[in-house]
Amino acid sequence: MLPQSIVTQILSKYIIQQPSKWRGQAFAPSNIALCKYWGKRDIELNLPVTSSLSIALGQQGAHCTVSLQRAAQHELRLNAVAIAAETVFGQRLRNFLDLLRPNNSCHFNVAIELNVPFAAGLASSASIFAAVVLAINDLFNWHLPERELSILARLGSGSACRSIFPGFVEWHAGVAADGMDSYAEPLPYTWPDLKVGLLLASSQPKALASGAAMARTVATAPFYKAWPAKVTQDLVALKLALKTHDFHLLGQTAESNALHMHALMLSSWPPVVYSVPLTLEWMQQVWQQRNAGLAVYFTQDAGPNLKLLFLKHDEPQLKAHFPELTVMV
Ligand code: PMV
Repeated sequence: MLPQSIVTQILSKYIIQQPSKWRGQAFAPSNIALCKYWGKRDIELNLPVTSSLSIALGQQGAHCTVSLQRAAQHELRLNAVAIAAETVFGQRLRNFLDLLRPNNSCHFNVAIELNVPFAAGLASSASIFAAVVLAINDLFNWHLPERELSILARLGSGSACRSIFPGFVEWHAGVAADGMDSYAEPLPYTWPDLKVGLLLASSQPKALASGAAMARTVATAPFYKAWPAKVTQDLVALKLALKTHDFHLLGQTAESNALHMHALMLSSWPPVVYSVPLTLEWMQQVWQQRNAGLAVYFTQDAGPNLKLLFLKHDEPQLKAHFPELTVMV
C-alpha cells in the first residue's frame, strides 16, 4: 500500500476544507525510546514489527514554521541553513511534503529550528517530521485528531509518531495492512523526578541510516525472532515501573532493551556497530557507578551516544562523574 493512499484516506475522512492561515507553526519534542522500535513489517508505511515506548524530551526538539509559496519547489531551512534537495534528508523531507500537500502545484516554505544535534541518534528526525505534520495541520486548519496526526508523522519517520505527544508515549504496532491501527498514544503516567542526560560521543551523522540498519537486522540477524517476546516483556515491566515509580525496574528494563537491540545488530551480517570506544568506556563507568551505589542506567539508539537515566536528586553527583553530561529533561 502506498503512503499517498493513507494520506488521502485520512484527509477525506476528517477534513472539511477551511481557509488556510498565512502560516502554520508547531513544536514537537524529540523522544527517547525506553523500549525500542527496531524492525519494520512494512517499509513503505513504516509499520513496526513491535510496539515501543518512549519519553519525550520536554522543550528539546523541533520548532517548525510553514507557509505556502509561489516558487516551483519546496524551500526548506534547518537552523537558517538551506536543506539541499540532493541530500538524503532533503529528499526525504520533500517527499513527505509532497504527500501532505493538497495538490501538485502547492509548494511549502519550511523553516525548522532544531535545538538538539541533527542526525546523531537523538531523534532529531522524529521531532522534525512530527513538527512538520503539526505545522501543516495548523496552516490548513485541519484540526485532525491526534491519532491521525500520529499516523501521518509515522509516514515520515517511524518514531515521529511518538513525537506528537509530550511525556511517556506508547506506539501500538497494530496488525492492519494499511497501518490505521499503528499509532502512538500518551500514557497516563508522570514522573517529574526522572531525568534523561546526554553523553555525546559524536555529533557526526551516522554512517548507516536506521532504516537500512533495521532492514539488515530483520533480514540477517538469527536472534531477531526472539525480539518480539523481549519487547512484550519489557513493555509490561516499563509500565509497571512508570506506575509505581520503580526507578531500578525502569532503568534495568531500558538498559537491557537497548543492549538487546544492539546485540541484534551485532549478529547481523554485515554487522551493524554504532558504538565507538568512548561509548563502551562510558558504559563501564555507568556500571562502576552503579556498583558503587549510584542509581544510574543508560540507553543507546542508532548512534554512539548514551542517554543516562537517573533521578533528580542524583544530578549533582552524576555531573561530578560525567562532566560532559547534558541534562535534557
Ligand atoms: O524512526 P527511526 O527510523 O528514526 O528509527 C528509530 C530507531 C531507534 O531510535 C533506534 C529506536 C526508537 O524506538 O526510537
